Formats: sequence, structure tokens, C-alpha cells
Amino acid sequence: MKVLGIETSCDETGVAVYDTRSGLLAHALYSQIALHAEYGGVVPELASRDHVRKLLPLIRQALAEAGMTVGGIDGVAYTAGPGLVGALLVGAGVARSLAWALDIPAVAVHHMEGHLLAPLLEDDPLGRPEPPFVALLVSGGHTQLIAVDAIGRYRLLGETLDDAAGEAFDKTAKLMGLPYPGGPQLAMLAGQGRAGAYKFPRPMTNRPGLDFSFSGLKTQVMLAWRDGDQSDQTRADIARAFEEAVVDTLAIKCERALEAAGCETLVVAGGVGANLRLRAKLGEMAARRGGRVSFPRPAFCTDNGAMIAFAGALRLQAGQHEDAAVRVLPRWDMATLPAV
Ligand code: KG4
Ligand code: ZN
Repeated sequence: MKVLGIETSCDETGVAVYDTRSGLLAHALYSQIALHAEYGGVVPELASRDHVRKLLPLIRQALAEAGMTVGGIDGVAYTAGPGLVGALLVGAGVARSLAWALDIPAVAVHHMEGHLLAPLLEDDPLGRPEPPFVALLVSGGHTQLIAVDAIGRYRLLGETLDDAAGEAFDKTAKLMGLPYPGGPQLAMLAGQGRAGAYKFPRPMTNRPGLDFSFSGLKTQVMLAWRDGDQSDQTRADIARAFEEAVVDTLAIKCERALEAAGCETLVVAGGVGANLRLRAKLGEMAARRGGRVSFPRPAFCTDNGAMIAFAGALRLQAGQHEDAAVRVLPRWDMATLPAV
């Protein structure tokens, strides 16, 4: 079964073709970062309009890369939420129309389920994690720890009470004058920071529980930056201390979540999963426990169509799809998803 995947929940247009026999055939991505940069954040209406411009050309590009025509598609998968309502509607509208015209099934995919299943896209079957596992979802909009009992059966173990981890990276970067989206740049700067020059707290780690709070950290950074000499070295030193605080906090909670869920496999997904210090730290933790941690390749950590095509393919294969109505869910609880 060849499934066309469409992702338009935020500021990336992603399209992919996944074949349930031979794996990923093609994927194409267009990032709107340059469009939103001058506003310092994503402007929802501009995002929707740009998805309208880019989606059909990207579908043509992905089909050409897969060496097929639109008639070769057996099903369509699209992100129906959570995300920006206008942006989601573009993908949902195109996906539903295509499915209607081709008389094939279409399935609504939960964006975070896409992220969570991305590590299962890897070619090497031995490298693929199998449920049950614990998933750490760390993106610009989410920070969640989820117990994955089976594909489609998700239990929320903990989540952020305020800023998401990626949002904390972006806001902290902005505060120190880095352009949007600052997360990856802040991480790069952290590499030049000196160990121990600054130290920030690890929020909510000294009491039990699996929830997070990152907004206080931002204030700590603001005070350190305001009271410092604002030199390049200071910026790098603060970036390093901030990154260490976020990474340590995530690692402490991941270890607790593994203990709570009684399993030793951790899967990390979402944009912050591309962070090298986080990857190294969780790798050390897993090795010490005799367990394992899997990450999607960096390109599939951030938003992409491949993860949506894959998650949708699993559900379509199980016979799941919906009627032709174009429906999106800007907010959508993963625990309400049907099992596969
Ligand atoms: O999953 P994603 O592409 O989009 C959402 O669904 O939110 O995640 C984007 C987030 C942004 O906040 C970005 O700053 C952050 O991931 N990010 C990083 C890194 N690369 C992306 N944060 C820290 N270190 C990185 N290397
Ligand atoms: Zn995402």
C-alpha cells in the first residue's frame, strides 16, 4: 500500500510517500522560517497562505521522486491536529479532495503520534524500538512523557505546565538577541560556552512527579543576561548553562518515567530531539541502566511528511479511515486515539 502523507500543522509543508512493503519512497519539505523570521514568530495567517502556495508543487515533487503518478496512491494521511487551525485546514482540504477524486481512503493523523512513531521509520529492523516504551516528545509546542503500551495506546505520564522545551529554547534565544527560531542557534552557541560559568536550576526535579515547568528558567536567563556584560562569550556561557539545565531536567524526568512505566526503552521525538547534548545525555542514561534510547534521524525530528505518511499507513492498513468531511482538531488529546 502506497500512502501519501501531508503535514501542514505549523510552519513547515511536508509531503512524503510511504510504501508499506518497501518503506519510504520519497519525502519533500518546505520550511517557512524565512517568511516568519521578520515577525519573530509564526504568523498563523501567513502560514496558511504559504501552505496553499507550496502544497501542490511539493506533492508533485514527492510523486516524481517516488517515480509514480497520482493514480498510484492507495491512501492519503494528513495531520488533522493539534496545530494552527488555518494551516491544518489547508492540508486536510487537499488530502480529502484528493482522496475523494481518486476514490481512495484518507485518514486523519495526530501530529504528535507522527513524531512519536518517527523512530520506527528507520530502515534497519533491528534498530527499531518496539512497544512498550516511554516516549519523550519535545517540540516547539509540546513537552510530554508518554507511556506507549502499543501503537495507538498512549498514556500521558507528565507534561509541561507552561512553556514547551522548544519554546523555552526559542524565547531564551530571542531574549539574548538571536533571530527566530533561536533554538538551534542557541544550541550551537552553547557549544562555545564555558562549563560552570553560569548555573541555572533544574525546575521541578526536587519533588516527585513527571511534569515540567520551563518558564522560570527564561526569567533566570533574562536576569543573568541583563546583569552581565552582554559580550559574545557571555551569551555563549549563558546558552551553555541554559542548555545544560533543560537537558538535565529532561533526563531526570525520563529516568523517572522509565521507572514508573517499568520499561527500559526510551524514544525521543520532536524538534528538540535534534539537540546533541540531549542525545548524548539520554544515551549515557540508557547505557547506565542497560536500556536503550532511540531517536529519529535529525531530519525526522522536526516536522516532516514522512512521519505522517508512516503513522497514517499503519492506521489505513488496520482499516481505519473516516468519511469525506474536512475536519481538523487544533487541540486533540492523544489518549483518545483508537488502538491500531
Ligand atoms: O517538532 P518541531 O519541528 O515543531 C513543532 O511541532 O513544534 O520543533 C521545533 C522546535 C523549535 O522550538 C526549535 O527551536 C527546536 O524544536 N529545536 C531545537 C533544536 N532544533 C530544533 N532546540 C534545541 N536544540 C536543537 N538543536
Ligand atoms: Zn512537530
